[in-house]
Amino acid sequence: MEPKLVLAVCLLISAAVSVADYVRPQPRRTLQFPWDSKPSSYPQQVHISLAGDNHMRVTWITNDKSSPSIVEYGTSPGRYTSTTEGESTHYKYLFYSSGMIHHTVIGPLEHATVYFYRCGGQGPEFQLKTPPAQFPITFAVAGDLGQTGWTKSTLDHIDRCKYDVHLLPGDLSYADYMQHRWDTFGELVQPLASARPWMVTEGNHEKETIPFIMDGFESYNARWKMPFEESGSSSNLYYSFEVAGTHIIMLGSYADYDEDSDQYRWLKDDLSKVDRERTPWLIVLVHVPWYNSNEAHQGEGDGMMAAMESLLYAASVDIVLAGHVHAYERTKRVNNGKLDPCGAVHITIGDGGNKEGLAHRYKSPQPNWSVFREASFGHGELKIVNSTHAFWSWHRNDDDEPVKSDQVWVTSLVNSGCLAEKRHELRNILMAP
Ligand SMILES: [Fe+2]
Repeated sequence: MEPKLVLAVCLLISAAVSVADYVRPQPRRTLQFPWDSKPSSYPQQVHISLAGDNHMRVTWITNDKSSPSIVEYGTSPGRYTSTTEGESTHYKYLFYSSGMIHHTVIGPLEHATVYFYRCGGQGPEFQLKTPPAQFPITFAVAGDLGQTGWTKSTLDHIDRCKYDVHLLPGDLSYADYMQHRWDTFGELVQPLASARPWMVTEGNHEKETIPFIMDGFESYNARWKMPFEESGSSSNLYYSFEVAGTHIIMLGSYADYDEDSDQYRWLKDDLSKVDRERTPWLIVLVHVPWYNSNEAHQGEGDGMMAAMESLLYAASVDIVLAGHVHAYERTKRVNNGKLDPCGAVHITIGDGGNKEGLAHRYKSPQPNWSVFREASFGHGELKIVNSTHAFWSWHRNDDDEPVKSDQVWVTSLVNSGCLAEKRHELRNILMAP
C-alpha cells in the first residue's frame, strides 16, 4: 500500500476510534454547601442585571431584615463616589421565610467600565464590568443550570471566556420547592453573576405552584427581578432590553401567550419600537424550544409557536435561544416548519448541567432544518462582531474541559432584503387590533 494511503487509513481509523471512545457523561450529584455562619447583615447571593439605559440593578440578600438597601460604588477600589438606596422585599413559602432581598438600581454608568461596589454598607467589595456601547459584544449562554458538579464545570468554563452579558433561557436553581436551594444557587453563581449582568427568563422549574396555597414564581420573581417595568411589561415573566446594538426579547413560556394575552400585546408593542438602525440585531429567548428534534419535550412549544412565530417572522428576528431540552441543537433559518432565508436560527441550549441529566434520544430522521444536535453538557458563546456578522460557538464540557464542538457565522437579516420585504406584513400585524 502507498505510504500516503496508509497514513490516510490510519487517520480515519484513529478518528473513528476517538469518536467511538467518547463516553456520554452521567449526571453529577447535587453540590453540597457547607454551613456558613456570617453576620446577619452580611450581603449574600449578589447578582447584577441590566436595568434600562446605562443602569444596573444590584440584588443581594441579608438575613437581617433591617439592613439598608444601599449600594456604594466608584471606579477605584475602596473609593465610593456614589451611593444609591433601593428597595427590599421578602417572601414566605410554607415554613420557609426568605432573608431580606434587596434591589438597588445604580447609574448612570459609563460603558465598558469596571466599577467597584459594596452592598448594604458592609461586607466584601465586588467588581462589575458594564457592557460596551458598540459592537463587538459577547454573550455567554447556558440554560437549565441547576447546581450539580456539571453546573460547576459549565460555570468554570464560562468564567474563562471573555464575555459581557450572560443570557439564561430558563430553569435556574432546580430548587423544586426546597427554598433553601434557591439560596445555595445564589451563592454558587455569585462569583460570575456579581461581575457581569445575568439576564434570565423563567422555566418550568421556577413555577413552584402549590394549588390553593402558593401562586407560581413567588421565589423567582422576588429574587430575580428583571427590567420588565423599564421595558413597558407588566410582568417579570417577559420583558426586553437593549445592549450594544442588540434588542433582546425575553419571552415567557409560562405566561399566557395567545392573541388576547398581555404578553402578546406587549410583544407587538415592543416589536413596533425596535429600530434596526440603532439595534441591527434582534434576538429572542424563550424556555421551551419551538424547533426541537429531541424526543424530550416534543411538541411542548407548538402552542406558543402557533401564536407568536408570525410576529417574530414579520419582525425579522435573527436568533431564538431556548432551553428546557437538556441537549444542544442548532437549526438553519426556518419559519413555519420550513427552511426560509428570512426566518430565525433556533438554538436549544438547555445543557447547563442540572440534576436531571441529558436528553439522549433524537427523532429519526433528522429534520432538514436541524443542522447540529448532540446530548452533552456545555455552554454557548455569541460574539456579535458588527451590525451584520456574529460568531456562534457551542462548547461541550468534555472531560471537564470546554471543547468547541459547533460553530457558525450568522449573518443578520438587517441587510438581507427580508426587512424591506416584510415591512408591510409587520405593519399590518402590529396595527391589527
Ligand atoms: Fe425546563
